[in-house]
Amino acid sequence: MFAESYAAASSMLDALFALKQPFLIQEYIETGGVDVRAFVVGDKVVASMKRKAVRGELRANIHAGGTGESCVLDQNTKRIAIDTATSIGAEICAVDMLESPKGPLVIEANLSPGLQGITKATSINIADKIAKYLFEKSEIFSARDRDEATLKIFEDLGLSGEIAQQIITNLDFRASRILLPKIVTDIAQFGEKDEVVLKVEKGKLSVERI
Ligand SMILES: Nc1ncnc2c1ncn2[C@@H]1O[C@H](COP(=O)(O)OP(=O)(O)O)[C@@H](O)[C@H]1O
Ligand SMILES: [Mg+2]
Repeated sequence: MFAESYAAASSMLDALFALKQPFLIQEYIETGGVDVRAFVVGDKVVASMKRKAVRGELRANIHAGGTGESCVLDQNTKRIAIDTATSIGAEICAVDMLESPKGPLVIEANLSPGLQGITKATSINIADKIAKYLFEKSEIFSARDRDEATLKIFEDLGLSGEIAQQIITNLDFRASRILLPKIVTDIAQFGEKDEVVLKVEKGKLSVERI
């Protein structure tokens, strides 16, 4: 609900209060009825659109008559959308934002966003991106179970101490990048913030924490 004045806001709150409805008050951001929707899948924004409210409407939602148009988001806006999704633990999520002089402002994160409007506006097959993401995730989950079983065997053999471990395996490539088995992460105990030196030559690779 949009309140045009203090008096309007005040009576709206009285009504919500009387109906025992929880409420959240936001500052009105003038954007000419335009908002931005970033569709996050995993740690990427896979599609984005600008939505414009139909004449006489302040909400840019497609179901409220708004029209969507594909748009390119800058890195900062993408980062904000991804951080919003991460902060609520959502891997698939549509983040609605308003462009303001202070930068992008998040108004809402949708956990079960519609696909039709944004697919049509951007011509990006978002359902396919979600399916591929879920497929990769499932593979990682099943690999993790396998790795945990292997780690348990190592532990039972008393081999998980300081001594370097040799793991004989095939390499798992994801979009021509190497995905190492989870056991490697467990043994090496690298953290995301660690700085490492990568030594690479043909047929040989080592990673060492600085
Ligand atoms: N603070 C605000 N200032 C200006 N416009 C807003 C504001 N909050 C929401 N809107 C507009 O109203 C639309 C709907 O709001 P939103 O919070 O996303 O709720 P929902 O999509 O659940 O109805 C937004 O997409 C945006 O166009
Ligand atoms: Mg919304």
